Amino acid sequence: MNLDWNKLGFGYMKTDYNLRVHYKNGKWGETEIHTDDFIPIHMMATCLHYGQESFEGLKAYRGKDNRIRLFRHAENARRMISSARGILLAEVPESLFVETIEKVVRMNEKYVPPYGTGASLYIRPLLIGTGPQVGVRSSDEFTFLVFVMPVGPYFKEGFKPVDMMLCRGYDRAAPLGTGHLKVGGNYAASMASVALARQKGYATAVYLDAREKKYIDECGPANFFGIKNNTYITPDSRSILPSITNKSLMDLARDMGLKVEKRPVPVEELAELEEAGACGTAAVITPIRKIVDEEMGKTYSFGDGIHPGTISARLYETLTGIQYGDLDDKFGWVTVLD
Ligand SMILES: Cc1ncc(COP(=O)(O)O)c(C=O)c1O
Repeated sequence: MNLDWNKLGFGYMKTDYNLRVHYKNGKWGETEIHTDDFIPIHMMATCLHYGQESFEGLKAYRGKDNRIRLFRHAENARRMISSARGILLAEVPESLFVETIEKVVRMNEKYVPPYGTGASLYIRPLLIGTGPQVGVRSSDEFTFLVFVMPVGPYFKEGFKPVDMMLCRGYDRAAPLGTGHLKVGGNYAASMASVALARQKGYATAVYLDAREKKYIDECGPANFFGIKNNTYITPDSRSILPSITNKSLMDLARDMGLKVEKRPVPVEELAELEEAGACGTAAVITPIRKIVDEEMGKTYSFGDGIHPGTISARLYETLTGIQYGDLDDKFGWVTVLD
């Protein structure tokens, strides 16, 4: 492939093939191979009107040995099943999800960026209600599609601390709503507040629990974690999306001898944290330099203001080392596509 791999951003790029599977009359059909990146869709489809859709995001990585690796993709399959249950989509069986991901990556193999560029192949599975319903109720027809695109590192500046805005004017998800599911409505609900944060010069918005506004929820489209007294602390709340990166970092932290606490994290505790970060597939870890609570006139700063904290850096290097195949996959997280 003649691509300038080092200049890739985090944007859409058409690749050769996408795979689609339709659900009709209570069952999934055969997997179709498409080259077009448009989908014909009924104008009354439930995904367009009522947000009956779920998506996933994961990556394929090329190692020094030139082999392609997938990271915990069965976890994404399970999370999409949970999203499907939450908003009445047809469930994509784990085996169908896993096979489709592996097939689409193999078919677009030439787009998996070379080792050493920091780039990877982003995989976007999408599950949508396609049948027409005028009343607000579930479709009985669905499409599962998976497409891929090469992406550069999420932050061009690299692994550097950013500033975030504590968000008191907006909630991303209701206490008993859909925050724990990966469904489009949550992302639509976050756009205005993230845009506001960016306008003010912050990387993103940090959400609080919607009921009491006392506890940290999420950082834009990423989970939050903090480090204090050799302990990895991450919020526990029903409105947080269970991040596969966070789950992996908890295991790595334990393995490094840290304690791990998953529990409500009060805003004031930010003052006690030695390190803080956001975590997710896109950037793995985004270290946080400061979180500004404009309404309360408070700024919480972490570390020396220039470098990522040492524990965050170690976690980042270990997780990316496993993903690219540089470190031993002792947890059995990686699938090599041969
Ligand atoms: C709201 C939200 N939280 C957290 C995450 C991180 O999840 P993961 O580590 O599985 O990418 C994502 C991204 O998928 C997200 O959209």
